[in-house]
Order: sequence, then structure tokens, then C-alpha cells
Amino acid sequence: MINGPRILVHAVSLYCAGRGIALDVRSDGWLLLLDHAGSRRLIFGYDLGLNSAVAHRLASDKAATAEVLSLAGVACVPHVLFMRPPFEAPAAAAAMLERLEAHPGGLVVKPNEGTSGRHVERVSDQRGLECAVEAIFARGADVAISPLLAVENEVRVILLEGDPLIVYTKERRPPEWRHNLELGARPVLLDTGAAREACVTLARSAAATIGIRFASVDVVLAAGRWQVLEINSGVVMEVLGRMHPERVDAAYAQALDLVFAGADL
Ligand SMILES: Nc1ncnc2c1ncn2[C@@H]1O[C@H](COP(=O)(O)OP(=O)(O)O)[C@@H](O)[C@H]1O
Ligand SMILES: [Mg+2]
Repeated sequence: MINGPRILVHAVSLYCAGRGIALDVRSDGWLLLLDHAGSRRLIFGYDLGLNSAVAHRLASDKAATAEVLSLAGVACVPHVLFMRPPFEAPAAAAAMLERLEAHPGGLVVKPNEGTSGRHVERVSDQRGLECAVEAIFARGADVAISPLLAVENEVRVILLEGDPLIVYTKERRPPEWRHNLELGARPVLLDTGAAREACVTLARSAAATIGIRFASVDVVLAAGRWQVLEINSGVVMEVLGRMHPERVDAAYAQALDLVFAGADL
């Protein structure tokens, strides 16, 4: 299981062992079959089956998430979608340039359905913009463009039906400008304080707005204002789990209690 969801599989194994649930681990941990007295549950990747298809798809789409959140008045970082060729609108190139003119401080270009900070680029001129967009299109992905914010702090709230299971701030290591743990940022637990309260309140509204039950909501502080950056429907805690294994096992156990709700464990 070199690239598999090791921390999740560990947490699920502990949970099942403690409750007499039979667990069959397949595909290097990417597919888990859980059986309890004839009631079967499936876990695929980081999908525990708690989120509806529409909530999962909205969360996976940064531009759609931003649109739904802003329609509901939830503070969020705007993300505008540009579809890959041949689906792009004829005026797409001009519309991208307009965004650059509207935001002289620069833009962030990213795959609309990306994860882990991959291919997320800051651009400040036309050439940089075109290169970043082309690189994403070449991978067959759509692009989301947002204004570049001076992010003072980025916090992740792991929510289960509105209940904040784990909240942590991501401390990036310069010169890396992105806050992804996969790119070296360090998670620091945020168990009390005003920042935590502000982030949890915002994350709850965001999750309720797209109707997601189990999610990681990323919020950023920029220009003195907390705003939702993205919602992840897969709750990945691989890096956090190496530092705080008990917290992560407990969080997944709470989610699994909901997975087995009504199954009379
Ligand atoms: N508009 C933005 N302004 C400033 N920083 C950003 C912006 N968008 C993304 N980032 C930085 O890049 C990182 C990755 O972007 P994100 O939208 O979360 O994509 P991914 O899903 O690949 O993690 C974020 O954690 C944040 O630090
Ligand atoms: Mg992210």
C-alpha cells in the first residue's frame, strides 16, 4: 500500500476490529468492503458513502462551489470556469485577459477539479496566464481562475453534519506559497479561540449550502476577511494522521458511526 490511503485503512481496521465488523481490503486499500451481520458498506478511495452524488460533484468543482456559495451569500473566493478545448466559449481568451486587467495584483490559475495544489499557478501577465492555462488544458482538464489573494492564514475544518471534528491551521514553509500539506505545509491544531470559531461558523454555512455531510472545508483569511477557498468531499488525513493518529482515528470512527447508523452494531 505505498500510495494507498494508509491512515484511513488503519482507522477503518481499528473500528471494524472493535465492533466485530468483517473487513476486506482490496486494490491496495482503495476499495474496502465492510460487512456486519449481512449489512454491507463500501468505502472507495476517501468516499465513505456519506455524501450525496450532487454534493460530491459540487465540492469537486471549484467554480460550481463558488457559484452556489456566493448565491447563498457565503463569503468565498470567486472561481470562474474556463472549459478545455473544444468546449471553450469563443470569447474565452478575451474573458481571461479581462480578468487579468480587473485584477492587476495577479490571478491564480488551477485545474477546476484539481487536488493537492497540483498545477496551481500564480500569474501576473498575459504570457504567464496563457502558459498556465495551456498546461492545464493539455492535461484534458478545465480551468478555474480566481484573483490572487494575500492569504494571511489558511484553516481546514473537518466537519461531520455540522460538527467540527478537527480544525487546524496550515503553516506553509517559504518559499512555497501554497498551503497544501502535500507541498510541505505543517498542520497545527486549532482547538480554541476566535479564529477557530469564525472558521467553524463559515465552514458550517458552506457545508449546509451545498448539502454535504462529511467534508474538509478550507477557509482563508485575506484582507481581514475569512472566506471559503474550497470544499473537499474526500476527507484526506494522511499527513495529519502521522502527527495526531488518535485524533484522526477518532474522527474517522465518528464518521463510520454514521455510516453504520441503524445497523445495530
Ligand atoms: N486565489 C488564491 N489566492 C491565493 N492563494 C491561493 C488562491 N487559490 C489557491 N491558493 C493557494 O493554493 C493552494 C491550493 O489551491 P486550492 O484551490 O486549494 O487547490 P487544490 O484543490 O489543488 O488544493 C491553497 O491552499 C492556497 O494556499
Ligand atoms: Mg486545496
